[in-house]
Amino acid sequence: MPKAPSGDFGTLFFPEELASFMGGERPTLKVMTEEDIAVVVGQFAAAARRAQEAGIDAVEIHGGHGYLIDAFLSPSSNTRTDGYGGNLAGRARLYLEILAAVRKAVGPDFPIICKLNAREVGKHDGVTFEIAVETARLLEQAGADAITASAYHDVGVGKLHSESNIPHVPNTNVPGAATVKRAVGIPVIASGRIEFDDADRSIAEKACDFVAFGRKILADPAFPKKLAAGSAEDVRPCIYCYTCVSAIYLRQKGRCAVNPETGFEFVEQARPAARDGASSWSAAVRRVSRPRAASTNAATMSCSSKRTSGSAGRCASRRCPTSRTTGSSTG
Ligand SMILES: Cc1cc2nc3c(=O)[nH]c(=O)nc-3n(C[C@H](O)[C@H](O)[C@H](O)COP(=O)(O)O)c2cc1C
Ligand code: SF4
Repeated sequence: MPKAPSGDFGTLFFPEELASFMGGERPTLKVMTEEDIAVVVGQFAAAARRAQEAGIDAVEIHGGHGYLIDAFLSPSSNTRTDGYGGNLAGRARLYLEILAAVRKAVGPDFPIICKLNAREVGKHDGVTFEIAVETARLLEQAGADAITASAYHDVGVGKLHSESNIPHVPNTNVPGAATVKRAVGIPVIASGRIEFDDADRSIAEKACDFVAFGRKILADPAFPKKLAAGSAEDVRPCIYCYTCVSAIYLRQKGRCAVNPETGFEFVEQARPAARDGASSWSAAVRRVSRPRAASTNAATMSCSSKRTSGSAGRCASRRCPTSRTTGSSTG
């Protein structure tokens, strides 16, 4: 077996070039002016207000995972020389302004969670536990109700996803959450491949106050109810195969390897065959509520029967949902 070649294809390209590979326009890079920043701050506040008006119980301001606030927080990306760069106070200024504006928009009693990276993997001069602790303290002083401590990485090295916010190794991000928790008085939320027993133990050991789950909810959206009912053995487990994650990078519709309904929720579940012999699938597919999305679905759905007709890889069986595109051709 020859040794696998080393290196990373992505490192050969600028971000603009990578974006164009993904089908996007090549972006023009521009340093945000103070006017631009004011617009963004207002947009965060407006979004939080909309969420509140829609009946959401809390908002989380995402200051991690490479998004705008993180780009300001991280010394690896913030090269500004004005009041929004330099030391931590400067780099955290955008986050604090957004938090203040969101608080003003939602009022004093509405819970605001602030998410940040406790560490950044593979970045020169990236966020460290120390930076995360200081940032969390500033956010607490500014009125955050809780902190979510996650992690991120150099996006030029795609495989690092599995070492940061969507980790392969269980509990990778718990030490970061625990470090932040020791520094603040508000609740801290941990995430990243945390099994239920580990979640219980982490909370009991005061490494965190809450655990947030991503992939587990894709694999079995009913798991909280099942756990509450004492039926942990009925939970369909995530197998950490990254199918859901890779679909995004291939610009495909979200899906889960163990839960066929994930991403297809708008297709009603199959019911027992009707007495007149009509396929319950025909009825179900006729009720599809979002024709355009459904059409994309059929193209990306795979069928285990392998009875492909040769037409866009669709199954030859009329009973199989991959045999038809929906919207214009159902019936
Ligand atoms: C399919 C999928 C898509 C995700 N997309 C995003 C995203 O767009 N932005 C983001 O900040 N995090 C994203 N995440 C990461 C989650 O916010 C979270 O860090 C992660 O799911 C926690 O780990 P867990 O899935 O093991 O619970 C995504 C995760 C998954 C599984
Ligand atoms: S696709 Fe795989 S990793 Fe993603 S939620 Fe489903 S089982 Fe888990």
